[in-house]
Amino acid sequence: MSDASSHVDVDLRGVKDFTANPYPYYEKLRAAGPVHTIRTDEFERIWLVVGYDEGRAALADQRLGKEWQGLVDRPEGNDPIFANMLELDAPHHTRLRKLVTREFTARRVEALRPRVQQITDELLDAMVPAGRADLVDALAFPLPMTVICELIGVPDLDRNTFRRLSNGVVIPSTPEQEGEAVAAMGAYLAELIEDKRCSPGDDLMSALVRARDEEGDGLSPDELVGMAFLLLVAGHETTVNLISNGVRALLHHPDQLAALRADFGLIDGAVEEMLRYDGPVETATFRFPREPVEIGQRVVPAGEPVLISLAGADRDPGRYPEPDRFDIRRDAQGHLAFGHGLHFCLGAPLARMEGRIAIRTLLERCPRLALDVDAGEPDWLPGMLIRGVRELPVRW
Ligand code: HEM
Repeated sequence: MSDASSHVDVDLRGVKDFTANPYPYYEKLRAAGPVHTIRTDEFERIWLVVGYDEGRAALADQRLGKEWQGLVDRPEGNDPIFANMLELDAPHHTRLRKLVTREFTARRVEALRPRVQQITDELLDAMVPAGRADLVDALAFPLPMTVICELIGVPDLDRNTFRRLSNGVVIPSTPEQEGEAVAAMGAYLAELIEDKRCSPGDDLMSALVRARDEEGDGLSPDELVGMAFLLLVAGHETTVNLISNGVRALLHHPDQLAALRADFGLIDGAVEEMLRYDGPVETATFRFPREPVEIGQRVVPAGEPVLISLAGADRDPGRYPEPDRFDIRRDAQGHLAFGHGLHFCLGAPLARMEGRIAIRTLLERCPRLALDVDAGEPDWLPGMLIRGVRELPVRW
């Protein structure tokens, strides 16, 4: 097969039902091989890895870099918000990850547990009397957003403005909208950080600002903007969909819902299965081979964009028997929903805690929780990065 040409195996432009349910497409592709070239609305050719073993290996492969510089033109430009560790390779990534890991300790996360429960209780106090709600708006979005804002130290953040900008960057409708959102987000965060510098507190962002003051090679102003962006966006664009995709999966599988209701001791495993079965991050972020790299017996030329489909890998029957079956008692360990390797999700312990508390408390407070049948078809988030619905109408 000639991999050097601009030939693509699959053209995904205009395939409408891919966003609503990409799993049958991943299954068909995987049956034909673990690696394929695809064309999307944005890219002429992307290498898409859909096999579990190949995806896991590619995520840990140091020959696949994150930095676009010199390889391809970054479509969004080089705004400071992209000076974040998820976009960087060693040694820059190592340095930034070390600085934040030191502050983002297991102790700081564990100390949040009572507060996560309290925020959940308050949101449900407000939601429950109505008898029906959009679960995204009432719980799945405000919980992680409030938690990450408090953790970082921006409790008064204008959530609606931030959500609009964040959606514009992470799940843009058009390149123009993305460019505007990137610029506005950079300016907005620079202002927030300046406020933090003037009146520091006992929070993560103040700690990161201080780290810069104490150490000569600390975080530069652009790096602080990049870090704030990454933490705020990664802290909520994902967890919102863990809660809403997880609840959707339960409501579509009454036997599994009943099993969980009968024994909430199953909640930890249930959340892992939700992450495997329909996780919030459909594909990992772009990687670029620094040299020609063989993945799944195909040679990916240097500089060409590679996407690893976490959703595809986690439904690989070679790794998980009957992968399309949602089974909260299965051993879902080893799933790739939080990535793998150097960029493995920094927030995984926090996300797991939020997901477990939110879903368990929701089920306890709403014993007759069901999908709102009048709601019509779900409105899926566009693009291949984030998987989720804009609204999840439920009643109880
Ligand atoms: C269920 C919720 C979450 C999911 C499914 C998720 C998933 C992921 C994935 C797949 C990656 C790696 C992406 C790649 O390699 O291209 C990642 C990285 C990251 N996540 Fe999460 N995430 C979640 C929640 C969070 C939360 C709550 C935070 C922060 C508080 C967070 C912070 C980060 C950061 C900082 C990185 C970059 C790590 C690095 O580059 O070294 N995530 N996440």
